[in-house]
Parts: sequence; structure tokens; C-alpha cells
Amino acid sequence: MVCITIDQAGDYLGQEVTLQGWLYNKRSSGRIQFLEVRDGTGWIQAVVVRKEVDEAVWGEASRLTQESSLTIRGTLKEEPRSKWGYEIWVSDITIVQLAEEYPITLKEHGTDFLMDHRHLWIRVPRQQAILRIRHEIIWAMQEWLNDQGFIRVDTPILTPNACEGTTTLFDIEYFGDKAYLAQTGQLYSEATIGSLRRVYCFGPAFRAEKSKTRRHAIEFWMLEPEMAFCDQEENMRIQEELVAYVVHRVLERRGEELVVLGRDTAALRRVVPPFPRITYDEAIDFLKAHGEELPWGEDFGAPHETIIASQFDRPVFVTNYPSQVKAFYMKPHPERPEVAICADLLAPEGYGEIIGGSQRIDDLDLLKQRIREHNLPEDAFKWYLDLRRYGSVPHSGFGIGLERTVTWICGLDHIREASAFPRLLNRIYP
Ligand code: 4AD
Ligand code: MG
Repeated sequence: MVCITIDQAGDYLGQEVTLQGWLYNKRSSGRIQFLEVRDGTGWIQAVVVRKEVDEAVWGEASRLTQESSLTIRGTLKEEPRSKWGYEIWVSDITIVQLAEEYPITLKEHGTDFLMDHRHLWIRVPRQQAILRIRHEIIWAMQEWLNDQGFIRVDTPILTPNACEGTTTLFDIEYFGDKAYLAQTGQLYSEATIGSLRRVYCFGPAFRAEKSKTRRHAIEFWMLEPEMAFCDQEENMRIQEELVAYVVHRVLERRGEELVVLGRDTAALRRVVPPFPRITYDEAIDFLKAHGEELPWGEDFGAPHETIIASQFDRPVFVTNYPSQVKAFYMKPHPERPEVAICADLLAPEGYGEIIGGSQRIDDLDLLKQRIREHNLPEDAFKWYLDLRRYGSVPHSGFGIGLERTVTWICGLDHIREASAFPRLLNRIYP
């Protein structure tokens, strides 16, 4: 007897097989029970007919509770009327564990309740679809970079310094010293390009963001490519190619999941380079024309980003932000030193910033000056300054937020569904 998974069912039609999974739902009459079984690879309807099975098997089927784990034996049949295409006609059932009364029923639950039961909530089709798409995005991002000759070098999570602003730092005790959870791996990637030229790091980033929004997580994953001998033009070209590749890869391989999520795929199909570009100054003018006046020099909030992005049908680069709202390491524009050579990539449909990137300061003295202006401890940055002492080169890079990308591509309302176990303001359980 072969033990198969549900995704292989089509190859075993007419044969008797064993399946291992969980009971998702059950309907029954006195003569027949329909078990909806899932096994992590798919769903199938298992049919138990009273007069065709032993009384004991009928009894086991009757006892089954929602989410019980089980092994079933039976014969596979094609069933065009079933939403999954196949059925298994059961000859035997073994209960692996009879589940206690399951807290998540098939009716509606509130968000807080579901988040408290996130460890169970991830079993439903919608959450499975999101996790599969997240996996596909990670796979596609890395595959594209690997094919372009990038080398993945992982960067530390425990670090001695701040990079993306001191207000969102998590500090911890490090054998009597202070250490911080990484906000980014970028500074280390600026070191590894000196060895490997084109690199990326991919790992968790931590920011103690006090803002409770639909887009901010406290712990999120970020993919950060960094390139030696690369200016901002090339940096943006790499970003648009990467993003388009990832979106089309999800369309190609995760069509079923996008259907489960009810995602409008026409909007995703339009994600083709080149992406439009507007400057920060143009964006400010555009906002003003739309009744959202913002003084020059202030950063955009989520509503501003939504207005700016709404005029385009694909992601848009907003370039040359005022240096004062950006990180210390960004290279100033040669003709307008008050703005940085940088761009944020805003996703369409109101999803906001998914990428932040820039050309980096490659001059030692200017970098020192910026570290001082930002009140950063020069000691902790000694090694970083060395990179401008020994073979400094023009270089650029960017960071793409995984959960923001998942939220956009899946069309989710909130970032909390983009990770299996999100860490949000006031949420660290489960
Ligand atoms: O714009 P950010 O802060 O840029 C950096 O960290 C640079 N070191 C990147 C680089 O140039 N190597 O963050 C980059 C991206 C954002 O565009 C966003 O997608 C994501 O990281 N991000 C967050 N995602 C979820 N929750 C948060 N609190 C996030 N903060 C940033
Ligand atoms: Mg940013």
C-alpha cells in the first residue's frame, strides 16, 4: 500500500492508498460521512459509506472532531463535482490524535481572537496561501540575485551601533556592555562588497517603532543587496528588474493561491519595468495640488505615499529626498547637497514604501562629519570608516522589506498576516 500526499492524488486514480492528515470539516447523514481532509499539500473529500465499511471504521469516522490527526486508507477517484477534483473512498481510518474541542470554528472570529490563536489560525486555506506566496517571494528574490552573480553573506543580528535612527533601537545587555538588535545589515554588506563586489544579506531586522499602523512590524525580514562600482541609476535598474521578476514569478507559480486570496491579478501583471520616477520636490507639488500641503523637508506618511502612488499603475520611485529625513550614510546630490541620491520605491494600490535605497557616501571626511552631525558614537563606527580608508569605491544598495512585499502582492489589509508569527506593537504572543 502506498502512502501518498494529496498533491499526488491524480497519479494514483483507481488505486488504494494511504493518506496522513487532519480533519478540516465533516458532514454526515446516517448512511454516509464526508470528511474534508487536509495534509499540508492539499485538500480532499474522504467518503465513508456505512454499508461498505466495518462498523468499527464507521464508529471512528463518527468520533472524529475538527482538526483531529488521522490516517486513512481508501481508493482514489476523480470527482468533477468536488472543488478539489478528487475523492477517496475510505476503507479504513486510524485516529492519530482525537482533537479537543477546536477553538477556531468555521464561522467568523474577531482579529484579536485569531491573533491569539495564530499558531492554529495558520492552518486555514487563506493563511496557507499567504505563507506559500511568501515562500515563493523569498525563493524568487534569491534566485534572481544568485543568477546575477550576487553572493549571500549573512550579517550579525547583535550589533554595537545604530544605523537607521536611534529612536527605534532595541538595546540588550551584552556581558556588561550595551548591544543592539540589528535594524539593518547594510553597513556590514558595505564591508563584504570589498571582498565579493556584489552581495546581499537577508535576515530579520528589528525596530521599536511606536507607530501602530498597518505597515509597521517590530520584527521584519529585509533583503539588502549592495553593489561596488555602482551608482544610483544602476541601483534603481536592479530594483525594478528584481521586483518585476518576483511579481511575475508569483503570478506564474502561485495562481491558485492568488485565487484563494481573491487578489486582482491584472494590477500585478502591469508591474513591468521601467517604473516611473518622480522627485521628492515633484511629489510635494503633487500633494499640494491634491490638498495635502506638506512643508519641504518633512517625510511622507502613509496617506501621502498613497496619494503619490495613486497616479501610477505600477510601482513608482520617489527620488532625492531631503538629507535631513534620511539616514546618515546617504550620498548628497553634487549640485544640491540638501538632498540625497536616494529613492524609495512605493507600491501601487496604496501599499506604500517597499524599498529604501541610495548611493552611499564614499568620502571619509564627509562620512565622519555625518556621523558627528547625527550624534552617533564614532568609536563604534571605526571599522565602517576604515572602508573609506582602504579602497573606497562608489557604491549603492537597497533594502526590500519582505512583509511589505508579501502584503502588497497578496493584497492584504494588514502586515500582521504576512508572517507566521508577527511581532507588532503590543503583540509578542504566541
Ligand atoms: O528604508 P529602510 O529603513 O532602509 C534601510 O534599512 C536600509 N539600510 C536599506 C538599504 O539601503 N540597504 O528599510 C527598508 C525597507 C522599507 O522600504 C520597508 O519595506 C522595510 O524595509 N521596513 C519595514 N517593514 C516592516 N515594518 C517596519 N517597521 C519596517 N521598516 C522598514
Ligand atoms: Mg525607508
